[in-house]
Amino acid sequence: MGRFYITTPIYYVNDAPHVGHAYSTVNADAMARWHRLVGDDVKFLTGTDEHGQKVADAAEKNGLTPQEWTDRTSARFREAWDALGISYDDFIRTTEPRHYESVQKFLTAIYENGYIYKDVYKGLYCVSCEDYYTVEASIDGNCPIHGRPLTEMEEENWFFRLSAFEDKLLEYYDRHPGFVTPETKRNEAYSFIKGGLRDISITRSSISWGVPVPWDEKHVFYVWYDALINYMTAIGYGRADNEVEDWWPFSHHLIGKEIIRFHCVWWPAMCMAAGLEPPSHVQVHGWLLVGGQKLSKTMAQEGGVKLTDIAPVVLTNEFGVDPIRYYLLREAVLGNDGEFSHEGITARYNTDLANNLGNLVARVATVVGSKCSGLGPTPRADSSLRVEAETAIRDTAAAWDRFAPQSALEATWGLIGATNSYLERLAPWKMEPGPEVDAVMGDALEAIRLVTILATPAMPGVCDEIWHRIGLSGSPIDHSFQQIAIWGLYPGGSVEKGDPLFPRIKSES
Ligand code: MSP
Repeated sequence: MGRFYITTPIYYVNDAPHVGHAYSTVNADAMARWHRLVGDDVKFLTGTDEHGQKVADAAEKNGLTPQEWTDRTSARFREAWDALGISYDDFIRTTEPRHYESVQKFLTAIYENGYIYKDVYKGLYCVSCEDYYTVEASIDGNCPIHGRPLTEMEEENWFFRLSAFEDKLLEYYDRHPGFVTPETKRNEAYSFIKGGLRDISITRSSISWGVPVPWDEKHVFYVWYDALINYMTAIGYGRADNEVEDWWPFSHHLIGKEIIRFHCVWWPAMCMAAGLEPPSHVQVHGWLLVGGQKLSKTMAQEGGVKLTDIAPVVLTNEFGVDPIRYYLLREAVLGNDGEFSHEGITARYNTDLANNLGNLVARVATVVGSKCSGLGPTPRADSSLRVEAETAIRDTAAAWDRFAPQSALEATWGLIGATNSYLERLAPWKMEPGPEVDAVMGDALEAIRLVTILATPAMPGVCDEIWHRIGLSGSPIDHSFQQIAIWGLYPGGSVEKGDPLFPRIKSES
């Protein structure tokens, strides 16, 4: 069995979590669950990014110290992830002592390797991005992402010699074709490097809310510089509990497309400068858009959608945990943008969940109840559904392996569709009780058993429930995928009808 170290970006605590944050986290969670299912040793890391000007400003506006504010907001992220059934193994906060220790060790290594020097920085800064822009990159002096005026900044800072890594990075990309996926995003990062890299300022003396620079106490590290190192903190870099060698070769960063430059240019260069290999893989995803716009606090302030209306906890209360997880994984191809809407969730819910999956489980339970005395029969080895099941198993597994949840769910739903058609064709509800109906129901139950295994990374709660309803004990994750995702293993069992799994939602119009 392999190892799998998956990370989400760590979220800024300037505001409460919204569904855009949930998009990253649910996708990472499903990947972590998939890898646990196939028996990998998994470490799933998420957390909060608590330093920087933006967070310090938010604290001040709310009349709290930065620490009080970050304690409060970081807890809201945990609550949201609990509500969404996120199975993280570690939740990192960048204000923790372990992070300070790893950051200081990591940056001291870069300093001692000669890649950090002092200079004066003059430039345009966007507090919302926590990033500098050149005049050319700005739009009439405004931030190209937030549209807000950029501030002129001039400071004596410590710089990272990023320019020294141009060739090394290009060579790394050439030698590791799968380093950044999808390919379009890899090309974006590659062209950025090819366009020439400038050294970057990595410390601030104008603010104190950050990790102190060990060799110059007047400075703290620039928030992005400490934030990226969280991926190392969690595996004990520079500390007694160091597990870097165990996990780093198996690292996968899942990130939104707006932070490609940090993760695909700066971060691999920082790793090289510290004498380490870059992460093994960065998977980029697109944005969830509302009315064509990225969700953001700025957008809400300008009268757009209220972020509080699409807080993860509000959505899970309205639609249920598994339907929201399903929607976030199924709606858009990972890597592309997707449009988020309540109508979109309702449509997916009614079609894929209520009509297809829910209906399949309900009709099978009904027929087993009326024609098989509630006892689920065993499947046939030569069922025509077997081919469909084996295709779904193969395609679903391959899609999860290549970070494509949308295709994985499509392949799984292919088996649900095939099973519904099989039942419609044979109409077991019209048959007399006996071997013929037993055979059909055994096949259908086996297909359902396999669906619950294939869909458990996306909808763990519902899959456990179905597993029980068809008379199985424990959970689909109790055995490894390779041992149980095989046609013919359904041992039979008592089948329970239960309440509808996904009561249809009436559309408002
Ligand atoms: N703190 C930095 C990341 C540091 S990682 C070392 C940051 N934080 S963030 O809170 O602004 O955004 C984090 C991530 O949230 C984004 O990369 C993206 O993955 C996700 N999203 C935020 N809004 C989103 C959408 N509207 N749609 C999809 N994902 C979005 O950047």
